[in-house]
Amino acid sequence: MSSYQIAVLPGDGIGQEVVAQARSVLEAAGARFGAGFEFEEGLCGGAAYDATGEPLPEETLTLCRRSDAGLFGAVGGPQWDALPRDKRPEQAILGLRKELNLFANLRPAVMFDPLVEASSLKPEVVRGLDLLVVREGVSGIYFGQPRGIEWLSPDEEKAVDTMTYTTGEIRQIVRLAFELASVRGKKLCSVDKENVLDNGRLWRRVAGDVAGEFPEVETSHMYVDNAAMQLIRDPLQFDVIVTGNMFGDILSDCASMLTGSIGMLASANVNETGFGRYEAVHGTAPDIAGQDKANPIAAIMSAAMLCRYSLKRVDVAEAIEAAVAAALDEGLRTSDIHTPGATAVGCAGMGERISALAAGTS
Ligand code: IPM
Ligand code: MG
Repeated sequence: MSSYQIAVLPGDGIGQEVVAQARSVLEAAGARFGAGFEFEEGLCGGAAYDATGEPLPEETLTLCRRSDAGLFGAVGGPQWDALPRDKRPEQAILGLRKELNLFANLRPAVMFDPLVEASSLKPEVVRGLDLLVVREGVSGIYFGQPRGIEWLSPDEEKAVDTMTYTTGEIRQIVRLAFELASVRGKKLCSVDKENVLDNGRLWRRVAGDVAGEFPEVETSHMYVDNAAMQLIRDPLQFDVIVTGNMFGDILSDCASMLTGSIGMLASANVNETGFGRYEAVHGTAPDIAGQDKANPIAAIMSAAMLCRYSLKRVDVAEAIEAAVAAALDEGLRTSDIHTPGATAVGCAGMGERISALAAGTS
């Protein structure tokens, strides 16, 4: 029996309850295939700030460094909004990305057929949607220097953020995106702002060079404004989209909403060693936290990604994904995806049913 060490970082708000369900599903599906899990919890986000004064304590980083993967809930809440930037819960996300070099942020947007009516777009525009945004996560304008706000005169300030990319950084993320495209739909769209930014010129040139290594993948290049428009106009044209940090932040939110519910979407942040931090795309939803109303599916799908990308356990990943699809086919719905005639369940009810299906016992 293989055993895997998983760092569990529930964070704040509904992060706690959805991660608890994801953990149970991992155990249930793992047991079926001889995969055991050792879970160790760490503090992050607002909960960590309250306990230690830091949103990302050193012990949490150490825990991640000795684990095979991290299962992350969500961070943030109004009570921490007024803190200085380096103490805000979001720093846990940015700090983990930077400290562990989680350079690749994988954000799939998958349409589950029973939910096709939940999208704000017409069913024929989104039915069958299965795209993957590959976002660079440790460079670009999020981390470039110099940055800051300075006084120009007693009544005038200036804010500076710097976008930088090196050839190596672009090559690394684009190559990973091509590798993923070559085992998916064999189409890759590289997104930049080549008509305006020097970053875009370099990005497009390097992406074009890497494309030469993957002749089996159909490659295209798109400006980011056009990509945003095309995602709404005809999202089925995309398979893998690769782009920089800030463009990826924006386009991945856009892609996620095509599916109708942000409560369904998983994501991964991975590094070159295979370690990854797996996280639902949704936030902490303080308004429903602790009320058993959250949809655990995004966290559970993140656990499936964890098995696929960090543990290379496609068997466990597929069992989890099939269990989610089966629970939806049975008509189970949390309130965010509720449709007339469906069976209303809470976070725990949804998680328990998916666990049973993933275990193969029902
Ligand atoms: C995301 C979020 C983060 C980001 C924030 C919370 C730091 O929007 O993961 O997309 O901008 O990367
Ligand atoms: Mg974002």
